[in-house]
Amino acid sequence: MPAQRRILITSALPYANGPLHLGHMIEQIQTDIWVRFQRLRGHACTYVCASDAHGTPVMLRAEREGLTPEQLIERIQASHRADSAGFLVSCDNFYTTHSPENRHFAELIYTRLAARGHIARRSIEQAFDPEKGLFLPDRYIKGGCPRCGAAEQYGDSCESCGATYTPLDLKNPVSVLSGATPVRRESEHFFFRLGDFEAMLREWTAGEGVQPEVANKLQEWFSQGLNDWDISRDAPYFGFQIPGEPGKYFYVWVDAPIGYMASFRDLCNRTGEDFDSYWAEGSSTELYHFIGKDIAYFHTLFWPAMLSGAGFRRPDAVFCHGFLTVNGQKMSKSRGTFIMARTYLEHLDAEYFRYYIAAKLGAGLEDIDLNLEDFVLRVNSDLVGKVVNIASRCAGFITKRFEGRLAAGDEAAALLADFLAERDTVAAYYEGREYGKAIRLIMALADRANQYIDHEKPWALAKDPAQAARVQAVCSAGIELFRVLMIYLAPVLPAMAAKAAGFLRSELDWAALARPLGAHTIDTFSPLMNRVDPERVAAMVEASREDVAQGSAPATAAAPVAAQHPPIAGTIGIEDFAKIDLRVARILAAEPVEGADKLLALTLDLGDDARRNVFAGIKSAYAPAELIGRLTVVVANLAPRKMRFGTSEGMVLAAGPGGKDIFLLAPDSGAVPGMQVK
Ligand code: MSP
Ligand code: ZN
Repeated sequence: MPAQRRILITSALPYANGPLHLGHMIEQIQTDIWVRFQRLRGHACTYVCASDAHGTPVMLRAEREGLTPEQLIERIQASHRADSAGFLVSCDNFYTTHSPENRHFAELIYTRLAARGHIARRSIEQAFDPEKGLFLPDRYIKGGCPRCGAAEQYGDSCESCGATYTPLDLKNPVSVLSGATPVRRESEHFFFRLGDFEAMLREWTAGEGVQPEVANKLQEWFSQGLNDWDISRDAPYFGFQIPGEPGKYFYVWVDAPIGYMASFRDLCNRTGEDFDSYWAEGSSTELYHFIGKDIAYFHTLFWPAMLSGAGFRRPDAVFCHGFLTVNGQKMSKSRGTFIMARTYLEHLDAEYFRYYIAAKLGAGLEDIDLNLEDFVLRVNSDLVGKVVNIASRCAGFITKRFEGRLAAGDEAAALLADFLAERDTVAAYYEGREYGKAIRLIMALADRANQYIDHEKPWALAKDPAQAARVQAVCSAGIELFRVLMIYLAPVLPAMAAKAAGFLRSELDWAALARPLGAHTIDTFSPLMNRVDPERVAAMVEASREDVAQGSAPATAAAPVAAQHPPIAGTIGIEDFAKIDLRVARILAAEPVEGADKLLALTLDLGDDARRNVFAGIKSAYAPAELIGRLTVVVANLAPRKMRFGTSEGMVLAAGPGGKDIFLLAPDSGAVPGMQVK
């Protein structure tokens, strides 16, 4: 038995400005498989995560929803936790970066870096939104590309020609928050002198700590020179104030990775685990971070530099993965392939996805495609058709004919020996994050187990009472082979492994590979997994389209939630929306209302012969005569409301900022009274 390793694992901390989607889940599942594999082998492996609570997008979303940032992040953290648990991710602590522990470590690390001369200050000029009263992150400014002139480009780069620039270079820039023209404003910022750490970083990144693709990227970054990193943001900002610097806050990316330490600290407070033996310089425990390739710069340069500058240990390695695509394309809201973790769980079993993703994951940075047709075929053929099939074909006979007793003996001994001979290879694949290779090997073994059963035909033997012992021997061997496969698959399929352990009445950890069941009594078999129903997949895609309609999905995985138009407050569920009966109505009469300067009294025809009287605040845009005969959309089932001037029996819908600009349906819209609006 090798010495027990003590390992601390993290996956990236998802932003608290929105719920988890399947892209986040591939990272957490990749991490979880590794963690469960280590535990299965008897190592002490702790896995921590958290919600990344700070920053401008969180602050603005909270404002839009009429919440405090604390209320918003608490709600989102709860959803992150629940979704992560729903995918059977066995994180030991899912914390938040907005915590006292994180403030403590952020201040400590900053103070140490400052004391050692690694922090510089200087004034810089930035785009400032004079209406919102805040400095604008690049993504909150749009304008014409300074190079090619393409309109509507973000403040950092042009999607049309690929140019990169600063937002102040844009032509006719506007703030996406307020529509105002940003102005230049100076303020003092704090910088982390990354260049001080170049020698250390070159040495660290030349070791085992990064994948070859990342090492190449790092060479590029080194040759471009390591710039100072701007680590401060001005108020208003949701984050931690820089010690002794009122109005200055740590940029969210400063305290985000420190959140790994804070989450672990919080766990140690509860379990009594020794924090320092994991984080002190020179400690002999292992530390690994699982992340997406988009955040490699932060984890392979800033983070090791901050740690080492503040006297903490560096990670042993940072493992980067590629991005999730669906049906070969970037996740898309309109195609219904921007799938929220919750939406998936409402329709499908988490282990289908865990298995499918594991089968596709390797140690590299390639993107991982979820092809929905292939997903159904693969899960059904591998898990249900191959693995579960072995047990279901053998268990019935053992239960019905032998009261659950397995036979000891050397039936299929050579085959079992072959299965066990692969254990080091399977382990090496898991250890090296080559899950796809592990799965292929395990499925090849499953094929051999099925061939063995096909060849021995216990169902045919069972017809001959003289062959009872053979039936028991063959089915016992089949179950033993199944047991080995389930141990190999346990990191990927923890719930199925737990059910199998129940039915086998035996622990399924790695050490159990050395302990065949022998003459042992098993429990009654019940189905371990059902087939994936393609209709459920279709329903999930449909529901994902609805998610978009409700506006709960962020625009893209990485972009901040930036509203183009004034805030849209709160949300209603689709059930609430379905209750609203929207109809086209013709305006039969329109009259000013005495004593009201904005209202017109309208008489409407909803196509049902009944006339409705509705008061509408559209007088500033329309003279009554202009409205006669025009069409508009109304809420037809609004309960009548008594107003000062009379009863209103509906609500007219129009768009626009008000004043002269209030828009009803176009006169030539082709709609007819009574038509339902959907
Ligand atoms: N908050 C930062 C991470 C801070 S870590 C100290 C962040 N958050 S995120 O919510 O945008 O992303 C969290 C993780 O999910 C990142 O590792 C990111 O790469 C990963 N993914 C987000 N979208 C993804 C896909 N579509 N596919 C695969 N991983 C993706 O970045
Ligand atoms: Zn351009």
